[in-house]
Amino acid sequence: MLSNEFASAAALLRDAERVVALTGAGISAESGVPTFRGEHGLWRQFRAEDLATPDAFARDPKLVWEWYDWRRGIIAGVSPNPGHATLAAWEKRFPGFELITQNVDGLHARAGSTRLAELHGNIWKVRCTKDETVSEDHFVPLKTIPPRCPQCGALLRPHIVWFGESLEPDVLDRAFSLSGACDVMLVIGTSALVHPAASLPYRAAASGAKIIEINPTTTPLTAEADIALQGKAGEILPAIDRLLRKESP
Ligand code: OAD
Repeated sequence: MLSNEFASAAALLRDAERVVALTGAGISAESGVPTFRGEHGLWRQFRAEDLATPDAFARDPKLVWEWYDWRRGIIAGVSPNPGHATLAAWEKRFPGFELITQNVDGLHARAGSTRLAELHGNIWKVRCTKDETVSEDHFVPLKTIPPRCPQCGALLRPHIVWFGESLEPDVLDRAFSLSGACDVMLVIGTSALVHPAASLPYRAAASGAKIIEINPTTTPLTAEADIALQGKAGEILPAIDRLLRKESP
């Protein structure tokens, strides 16, 4: 049964010109990065209100930065997995391939993906709270907590979209227009609960795209998906890739 579904997914992809993948924390789970809402998810151990809101940062920037510093340490110690690698390779296989991620871990870029929209920011970027300048910072651990802008001395904050904040309009516009113009959207490793990211597959479906979901558990999107592949992204994506390579060497 599952192998039939894999073959159907491969057939949809083979016939597609424009493929978009939307990823969430689940694609990095097999690398060892904690997800947010699963059994050991971050939001089961920590309160988002204390760590991932503008109010939390205004109240206690040190606490917020200690938490991000801890997460940066985890991410620095892991590697992209075969799921990330397959999506990076598909940039070459599908001329119109585009990747939209909710992840801030930077693992897609480390795997080699270049056509990448990071909806929620990037944990390796910092932003000056005074003039909004964004720069990269790869120190693990951070040199000082909370870090300060080397130019003006103002507090730096993580370049991450927190609860209650808007996504960057350019990135969001691009994500919506890619979603509205694709033939197939792969929705991988996301609980499909956080908007506006969770709206993108509906936008794609409304424009005629086929939806392929890859996730070990069901989500609000599962019933809407044309094909729902239950399992791990790091196993399913390479399996589909093997089928595609068999079909077109
Ligand atoms: P969640 O933690 O909400 O969901 C992770 C999903 O990945 C779940 O549906 C799991 O079943 C699935 N999953 C787990 N292991 C998997 C595997 N090996 N392969 C495929 N899927 C697997 O994470 P997101 O949906 O990404 O915001 O959460 C959305 C946003 O909520 C995040 O971007 C984050 C959070 O607050 C910010 O960081 C700004």
